[in-house]
Amino acid sequence: MKAAKISIRDAKPADAGELNRFIRHIYGDSDHLVTKASEFRTRPFRQRFWIAGKASNPFETCLVATEDGKIVGMLDSWTDRRARIKHVTTFAMSVHPDRERRGIGIFLLNEFIKWVAENPRLEKIELHVHADNTGAIALYEKVGFTMEGMRKRAIKYDENRFIDDILMAYWPNSSNVETQ
Ligand SMILES: CC(C)(COP(=O)(O)OP(=O)(O)OC[C@H]1O[C@@H](n2cnc3c(N)ncnc32)[C@H](O)[C@@H]1OP(=O)(O)O)[C@@H](O)C(=O)NCCC(=O)NCCS
Repeated sequence: MKAAKISIRDAKPADAGELNRFIRHIYGDSDHLVTKASEFRTRPFRQRFWIAGKASNPFETCLVATEDGKIVGMLDSWTDRRARIKHVTTFAMSVHPDRERRGIGIFLLNEFIKWVAENPRLEKIELHVHADNTGAIALYEKVGFTMEGMRKRAIKYDENRFIDDILMAYWPNSSNVETQ
């Protein structure tokens, strides 16, 4: 079943409380994210500033997917200011577990890619994903991301469970980029 009544928009400072509850739920539910729910301590007051900061930074964004006005997904991006890497932007995304496989993730990601493609400074999109997060990797590959590298055993859940960190990337405007 595909998404009905889903909208994508920029997050607003007034979303802070609802966004915090969404993020805490995702951290508590997912087995594929670095941050634990107990480590997420951002209060709504600070979250308002964080959202306002994204809105005022032309090289970063925080998008939310809403269903009947309720937040069901988010994607946020960040960009280094240093001259030699400021063409690269990195993002993270999540969809509410009750709303998965309805096309919300791909909708969010395609909106983000469009935003990057229209940004004169940003050229490359990067992301990190747990090697065992096969659903997310399938989504990223579906829109054209390719694997660029792996940090072996970079994430440690407990003494017996290490996970490799995969780096994937996508160039929205370049079909043939030369590197040295
Ligand atoms: C990964 C995530 C964002 C996907 O969101 P979603 O809304 O369920 O994804 P979509 O419905 O848009 O899926 C689009 C396509 O991606 C692929 N895909 C998505 N989830 C998949 C899964 N669990 N297994 C296999 N393929 C999957 C499929 O090709 C799918 O198309 P299809 O449904 O027509 O087969 C979501 O599962 C999530 O938030 N997970 C928890 C947090 C997380 O892991 N975030 C990513 C961290 S890097």
